[in-house]
Amino acid sequence: MSWGLENRLSKIIRPDTGRTVMFAVDHGYFLGPTSGLEKPAEAVVPLAPYADTLMLTRGVLRQCIPSTVQTPIVLRVSGGNSVLEDDLSDETLMTSVEECLRLNAVGMALSIYVGAPHQHQTLKNLGKLVGKGERYGMPVIAVTAVGKALGQEITRDARYLALASRIAAEFGAHIVKTYYCEDFERVTGTCPVPIVMAGGKKLPERDALVLTKNAIDGGAVGVDMGRNIFQSDSPLGMMKAVSAIVHKGIGVDDAYAVYEDEKRAGRGGAGGGDAGASPAGAGGPGAGEAGGQAGASGPGFGDDRKL
Ligand code: R5P
Repeated sequence: MSWGLENRLSKIIRPDTGRTVMFAVDHGYFLGPTSGLEKPAEAVVPLAPYADTLMLTRGVLRQCIPSTVQTPIVLRVSGGNSVLEDDLSDETLMTSVEECLRLNAVGMALSIYVGAPHQHQTLKNLGKLVGKGERYGMPVIAVTAVGKALGQEITRDARYLALASRIAAEFGAHIVKTYYCEDFERVTGTCPVPIVMAGGKKLPERDALVLTKNAIDGGAVGVDMGRNIFQSDSPLGMMKAVSAIVHKGIGVDDAYAVYEDEKRAGRGGAGGGDAGASPAGAGGPGAGEAGGQAGASGPGFGDDRKL
C-alpha cells in the first residue's frame, strides 16, 4: 500500500483509536432535499468538527461547505438515479478520481448492488475505481447498497451482508460500509477489510445508540451515519454520543446522557428535521423494514427506503 493511500486512510480511521465516525450527508445524490438536509450548510458545518470525515457529493462540498473546513472529505462518486426510479442499481461513476484529488478528498465512496439488476455493472465500477484510486493513493469505500429490488428480509441478513461485504473486499475496497444485522460478527469476521456501519432509517435516539454499540462490539471499526444524526432533535448531541461510544467505548446509558446534556443545553445543532419520531412498528435497532418516513412533510419525495 502506498504512503499516500495509507496516509489518507489514517485520516478516515483515527490511528489513536483505530475507529471512525463518518458523517454521511450524501443522501441528496438520489433523494434530493431529504429531511434534515434541506440546507446542507446549516446542517453539516456546525457538526463537521465533531466528525472524523464528511461523506458527501462534490456539488454539496463545493457549494455548501467552506474550503476552510478541516474535517477530511470522502466523496460519493457513484450515482445516476433518482428515487423516482424503481431500479436504483443502475449506477455509474459520476465523479472522477482527478476531481477527488482536486478537492483534496481522502477517500471515494461508491455503491455496489449485490443481487440487484445492475450488480455486474456496479462491481465493474468498483474494480475500475480501485484500480484508478490506487494509482493516485486514494482509498475506496464500497457501500453495500440494497436498492428497492431486494427484500428487506434478505438484505438485513448476515449471509447476504457477508456476501456483499466480502465481494467488495475481494475487488479491492479498502473499507466496506454495510448495515447492522443479527450475527453481525459473521459479516465483520469474514471481511478482510475494516467495516463501518451505515446508520439506516431514523430511530429513537437510544435505539440508535444501542445500534452503534452493538456494531462496535460486533467488530465494526466505526459508523458512517447520517439520518440518526441529522434528523435527531439534537444532531450535535447524537454526534457526540455516537462518537463517545465509537472512540471512548462508553456504554449506551452514558452515551444517552451525553445526548441529553447537549439537547438540554440547547446546542443541538442545526438539524432535527421533521422525521424525529420513529415510524410505528419499525422494530428495534438493525431490524425490520426501513421507515421511509423522512421528508414526509418536507420538500422532497422522502422515500429513503433504499438506504
Ligand atoms: C447510502 O447509499 C448513503 O451513502 C448514505 O449516506 C448511507 O446510507 C448512510 O446514511 P444513513 O445513516 O442515513 O443510512
